[in-house]
Amino acid sequence: MKGIFITFEGPDGSGKTTQIRLLAQHCRQMGFEVVLTREPGGTPISEAIRDLLLDPSHKEMDGVTEALLYAASRAQHVAEKIRPALEAGCIVLCDRFMDSSIAYQGYARGLGDDVRVINEFAIQGTQPDITFFLDLPADQGKKRVASARDLDRLEQEDLSFHNAVYDGYRKLKEIYADRYICIDASRSIEEIAAEIREQFEAYVVRRAEAE
Ligand code: ADP
Ligand code: TYD
Repeated sequence: MKGIFITFEGPDGSGKTTQIRLLAQHCRQMGFEVVLTREPGGTPISEAIRDLLLDPSHKEMDGVTEALLYAASRAQHVAEKIRPALEAGCIVLCDRFMDSSIAYQGYARGLGDDVRVINEFAIQGTQPDITFFLDLPADQGKKRVASARDLDRLEQEDLSFHNAVYDGYRKLKEIYADRYICIDASRSIEEIAAEIREQFEAYVVRRAEAE
């Protein structure tokens, strides 16, 4: 792949959306072609699946259905948008990706390794090059979103669910240590953005040296 695939992960309210926008701005100023996208969503079909998934009235949704819908939404997103952009040499910045399914559906819902397996099928080999993990305990993230917006179906889960998501991410950062970059997300927006910019630039240099 000619492009660079960067994902942002972390609990709800850890600052992913804020930081991904700042990095997109920075990359564009550096002259890169950037595709900024999100999951679940990013294409018309994937956004329609997002609406199904996050509707707070769908309280009866089964965990397996939920895991398959996230994976289906991702399959379409990769095929229609992410892979073509990478082939065209763009920097793709994606707010959440497959690790969210492993943390939320695999660990927190307790569905285990089957979630990784269905997602490997969904992404067909399109793995992130780097993943910024915004490290913030779940209770602090929850406080930030509770005061800022209406909560979607997943955000309405209780603190023990969100603590399990956080524990899941801490395992993922060990398993995928080669691509994970951990960022202390309890600091100010500007301090975090500066560290992400530095890490991004260091990655671009490492990659150019390796080519
Ligand atoms: P996420 O996409 O991870 O859910 P957001 O970027 O939407 O997180 O941030 C959630 C809320 O927290 C927003 O109101 C945002 O302005 C605020 N926020 C983001 N980063 C910080 C930070 N470093 N310190 C304090 N508040 C923050
Ligand atoms: P998002 O809009 O990114 O929420 P936030 O901005 O609060 O981080 O994602 C919506 C919800 O969907 C969020 O609670 C996390 C959840 N989610 C999963 O459970 N599995 C997944 O694979 C993805 C991509 C998201």
